[in-house]
Amino acid sequence: MRTVRDKTAVITGGGSGIGRATALSLASRGAHIVVADINQEGARAVVDDIVGAGGAAIAVHSDVARPTAFEELKQAALDRLGSVDIVMNNVGVLTRGRPDHLPAEEWERILTVNLLSVVHSNTAFLPLLIEQGHGHIVNTASFAGLFTYAYDRLPYAASKAAVVQISEGLRLYLRPQGIGVTVLCPGPVATNIATSLPPTFGPAVGTLGPGDQFAVLDPAVVGEQVAGAILDDTFMLYTDPQVRDVLVERAKDWNAFIERRTAIVAAASS
Ligand SMILES: NC(=O)c1ccc[n+]([C@@H]2O[C@H](COP(=O)([O-])OP(=O)(O)OC[C@H]3O[C@@H](n4cnc5c(N)ncnc54)[C@H](O)[C@@H]3O)[C@@H](O)[C@H]2O)c1
Repeated sequence: MRTVRDKTAVITGGGSGIGRATALSLASRGAHIVVADINQEGARAVVDDIVGAGGAAIAVHSDVARPTAFEELKQAALDRLGSVDIVMNNVGVLTRGRPDHLPAEEWERILTVNLLSVVHSNTAFLPLLIEQGHGHIVNTASFAGLFTYAYDRLPYAASKAAVVQISEGLRLYLRPQGIGVTVLCPGPVATNIATSLPPTFGPAVGTLGPGDQFAVLDPAVVGEQVAGAILDDTFMLYTDPQVRDVLVERAKDWNAFIERRTAIVAAASS
């Protein structure tokens, strides 16, 4: 997309963290923003920031776990801002617990919010984007969807790996139709994600992140990266390119990689 000026971007989870930062970043470049969030107060505060800076934005109360949420968002964007050009499927929630202690209901909750929301978004928005022959989709995944650095967040990691796969398939399908796809894979970012974390299921597990080499980023940095990826039509957006080293290490010898990872995780958990 050569410019985002006067384009409309629908951003789920736009009331906080990475979604908020992307909303501000796109708005500063002249995009009009639908800030969709289950937290209405957060969404309104982002809209106030954008409008206060001379931009255009609306807040829409939205729970992406509801299958009808995306039809409603599409209608709100078309009715109130006139178009949909960019869709960012950004909501993600985390859960923690040992694999034998995570209840199936918790799996269902995480997969509904993190994965099926992307499915429902596609159902609502793809026909519109395909018909108009332009647009850009950003799906927020995670380093957790690229490689396994812990065993205590399987539903989250599985949902994010699925988002990477869906994005890859969509890119193959949509690029020839004039529509860009970006899969955002953040490493650690200083957001409010931990506030939605329920108590750990089962006995406590030592927290293990993707690696000490990855600095915790300010969300504003990620917001700028996303705007750049939309403008450059970048498919894979790692917030830290060092993650490639891990993926190359795994690709060279997956069995040796998982042996080394098992030792690291065991040492951290002992
Ligand atoms: N922060 C990190 O370190 C990190 C790392 C990798 C990936 N991510 C991903 O980035 C994305 C954004 O997360 P963040 O870190 O900015 O977190 P955040 O908690 O700061 O923002 C998430 C927003 O989503 C909203 N939300 C939660 N459930 C919702 C629902 N059902 N419907 C609508 N809105 C809902 C929250 O109210 C919040 O405003 C997520 O997909 C997350 O998995 C974050």
